[in-house]
Amino acid sequence: MRAISEEVDPAFRADVLKGLAEPVPAIPARWLYDRRGSELFDAITRLPSYYPTRTETALLERIVPEVAELCGRGGAVIEFGAGSQTKTPLLLAAVRPRAFVPIDISGEYLKDSAAEVDADHERVAVYPVVADFTREVVLPSEIDGLARLGFFPGSTIGNFIPRSATDLLRHFRTILGTGALLLIGMDRLKPVERLLAAYDDPEGVTAEFNLNLLHRINRELDGDVPVDAFRHEARWNDMLARIEMHLVAARDVAFSVSGRPFQFAAGQSIHSENSHKYGPRGGRLLLLAGGWTPLKEWVADNGDFAVILAEAQRERFAP
Ligand code: AVJ
Repeated sequence: MRAISEEVDPAFRADVLKGLAEPVPAIPARWLYDRRGSELFDAITRLPSYYPTRTETALLERIVPEVAELCGRGGAVIEFGAGSQTKTPLLLAAVRPRAFVPIDISGEYLKDSAAEVDADHERVAVYPVVADFTREVVLPSEIDGLARLGFFPGSTIGNFIPRSATDLLRHFRTILGTGALLLIGMDRLKPVERLLAAYDDPEGVTAEFNLNLLHRINRELDGDVPVDAFRHEARWNDMLARIEMHLVAARDVAFSVSGRPFQFAAGQSIHSENSHKYGPRGGRLLLLAGGWTPLKEWVADNGDFAVILAEAQRERFAP
């Protein structure tokens, strides 16, 4: 039983009840990241088979001086998501902005990251914004008039289906305004075996991360999902160029969530996350479709990961 004081996000309940009842059951990936889920994701980023985090960090380390030259110093850096403890300081140290605005849905993580950045960069004013960056965001008036650099690392863009990804990029353009720049990380297409290994590690951490969604449903939504009846599966969907995470029922199961009954036949799955992978042309086309013109692209030596600097397109009719 949950203590009444512990709040459950009503949107979590709504998404789970709706998602489990869909013909192809699916739950939005954002719900994987509760406290435990975020800890597990953190552990994932250190796994030998999970290449993206260390590859992007090394790439950023190499390119931030060039980024700083291109975007200029003394502006405002706006990060979509709570600042990563390693990537964000790298960027801020090179760009030396006057202000740093991390935007995250969780005030808790935001406070942690803001405090850390505050301590390391005395001259950077930090203005954290607690908001869901897929919705309306009001930037602090303190950064009015400063040149803006958006930062969206981690290939988080890959979590969104291309239609939503272009919506999000357009939304970022609206938030940041014409003339703004965006530094974005994108994971690259690569041999399927390496992709599958990254999302189904031999240590079983990704499996635990995925299964935590079911534990969370049980904890927060008064569920009795038999978690041991589900197993983690990473699938490569070649047509849609993405890794999919699924929770597959190993046997026929029946359970309830918030008093609502559900049945799964053996082999049926709950689709819990997408991670889209892009080639060079596809990645840049996604940005263009989202209202951002790529200015410069840097790719890790082994081609595993790309970071792109893009400029918010101005309104114009032709050509
Ligand atoms: C946080 C979206 C970048 O897609 O690689 C890692 C999430 N899921 N392992 C990714 C994730 C399973 C991750 N992102």
